[in-house]
Amino acid sequence: MSSALYLVLLFSALWTLSFCGTREFYVVNQDKNWTDAQKYCREKFTDLATVESQEEMNALIAVLNGKTGRFWIGLKLKNENDNNSWIWSDGSNSSYRYWNDKEPNFGRGPMCVELLQGSEYKWNDAGCHNHNKHFVCYKKLPLILINQTKTWREALRYCRENHEDLVSVHTEEIQHWVEKAVYYASTANVWMGLRHTCTLSFWFWVSGVSICYQNWAPGNGTGVEDCSRGERTGAVQSGSKQWVSLPEDQRLNFICTTSEGESKTSVDYNSKDDQRHIRNDSFLILLVSFQSFRTRIRQPLLEQDLHFSQ
Ligand SMILES: *[C@@H]1O[C@H](CO)[C@@H](O)[C@H](O)[C@H]1NC(C)=O
Ligand SMILES: *[C@@H]1O[C@H](CO)[C@@H](O)[C@H](O)[C@H]1NC(C)=O
Ligand SMILES: *[C@@H]1O[C@H](CO)[C@@H](O)[C@H](O)[C@H]1NC(C)=O
Ligand SMILES: *[C@@H]1O[C@H](CO)[C@@H](O)[C@H](O)[C@H]1NC(C)=O
Ligand SMILES: *[C@@H]1O[C@H](CO)[C@@H](O)[C@H](O)[C@H]1NC(C)=O
Ligand SMILES: *[C@@H]1O[C@H](CO)[C@@H](O)[C@H](O)[C@H]1NC(C)=O
Repeated sequence: MSSALYLVLLFSALWTLSFCGTREFYVVNQDKNWTDAQKYCREKFTDLATVESQEEMNALIAVLNGKTGRFWIGLKLKNENDNNSWIWSDGSNSSYRYWNDKEPNFGRGPMCVELLQGSEYKWNDAGCHNHNKHFVCYKKLPLILINQTKTWREALRYCRENHEDLVSVHTEEIQHWVEKAVYYASTANVWMGLRHTCTLSFWFWVSGVSICYQNWAPGNGTGVEDCSRGERTGAVQSGSKQWVSLPEDQRLNFICTTSEGESKTSVDYNSKDDQRHIRNDSFLILLVSFQSFRTRIRQPLLEQDLHFSQ
């Protein structure tokens, strides 16, 4: 996809409509059979559309915006002899369905799923070889706003367990994504993966990338931090989009990166023996600063801390 088109999509209303999910839908107005549609989506986007909830289906209907015709999505019958063997093209095992009345009614040969504009985009099964249908692809988003309120540590753990990590805003481009994401926030500030060490007096991203881009609100982040209530952590203001320094126990929305972001080169130190020798923040930060020169690593001790404090 050309970068110009990408930008148009990025700032279009459609984009924001689907942002709360982890994927963004694209309608392709070309006639293809299911297999060729799948190939096209995998080349240009992530895959043929997977729809895992009614919320996502609503987002998809909004993107289709009344377009007429029939549209392939990524659901296919794996085994012609087993009417229950529906599988998603991207490997999702979601059991969400939006069948039209009396569907699926199966047929001869491989069956795939299309949306019928005439039936409010409800689902119908059709022969996969039919090559007269348009289709819907999706692209996995690099960031996701989590509309729950958690302390900074809880947020970090949530992101690492369910997605990739708390977001590291180390370029202006990521800041732009963040600015879009906080549009939906229900708290005035939104956690990022930004952490201060009182022992060594500096800020760092928990993903291990260096701080090369900054967007601090005046008076924040650049002076001496107030360490009286423990370590400070960084959040982005939903209003000004600037960053502020806050005590970690505030309960805020937060932004995770998804695995579709930067290629994952993080090293998991939990499995290594030297993890056991890391005893406190100061030691850890030295290790992280040292390691950051060589590779992007995830800041490991915080996870360990979490286990200690449970
Ligand atoms: C699948 O469903 C169709 C229609 O309900 C039926 O005719 C066919 O026998 C079923 N096939 C299998 C393998 O159950
Ligand atoms: C999908 O797989 C996950 C784990 O891989 C499992 O926890 C979940 O129950 C599965 N869902 C369905 C609908 O099979
Ligand atoms: C889809 O169409 C291509 C040609 O455009 C053809 O080579 C391929 O066999 C078709 N696949 C199916 C499953 O019909
Ligand atoms: C976020 O959560 C709040 C409070 O639970 C809710 O009122 C709001 O509608 C949610 N926003 C979105 C976009 O889901
Ligand atoms: C940080 O920025 C916020 C918002 O602009 C401001 O209210 C606060 O006073 C700043 N903190 C300091 C220490 O100046
Ligand atoms: C942390 O570890 C360093 C290096 O082992 C040590 O010098 C320092 O006293 C320790 N600090 C605390 C608070 O335990």
